[in-house]
Amino acid sequence: MAWLERSDFYTAPASTRFHGNYKGGLLEHSMNVYDTLSGIVSRYPEMHITPETVAVTALFHDICKANFYVTSTRNVKDEATGQWHKEPFYKTDDRLPLGHGEKSVIILQSFIKLTRDEIYAIRWHMGSWDSAAKGGDPSISKAFEICPLAVMTHMADMEATYLIEGQAKHLI
Ligand SMILES: [Fe+2]
Ligand SMILES: [Fe+2]
Repeated sequence: MAWLERSDFYTAPASTRFHGNYKGGLLEHSMNVYDTLSGIVSRYPEMHITPETVAVTALFHDICKANFYVTSTRNVKDEATGQWHKEPFYKTDDRLPLGHGEKSVIILQSFIKLTRDEIYAIRWHMGSWDSAAKGGDPSISKAFEICPLAVMTHMADMEATYLIEGQAKHLI
């Protein structure tokens, strides 16, 4: 908790251009994934996935994005007036370049002991968007076969990103 509070986890965006690209977007996304994952897990009571596992996995799957974004400004032309002005935007500045899901696991493991299922779920939450999976690493298929929580976490991340946050963006 001390590390979280020293980091920008509570104020960081969730991306530079896509979902949650505003202050607090990462926290909002993490809580959306918590809600969606809780819903999916509740449909499979026979799997005995604990509330603690749901919380740790969902709330911290993207902890790799803490201390990851910085703000900068760029010149933008107002088409109506022809005037240029500066607008702030987020860009990435990865000070711990260890990947994405794997980076979240590494950060978490230095503070709390994760279960094997939590490791699979956080490591592979990006599904086929993961860089290693895109490069042909077959580990993701194996992880999905042996760890239902990993499949559920990917589904929850997709639902939060594209249905909940995508829809919110659409309505603004
Ligand atoms: Fe992610
Ligand atoms: Fe995510």
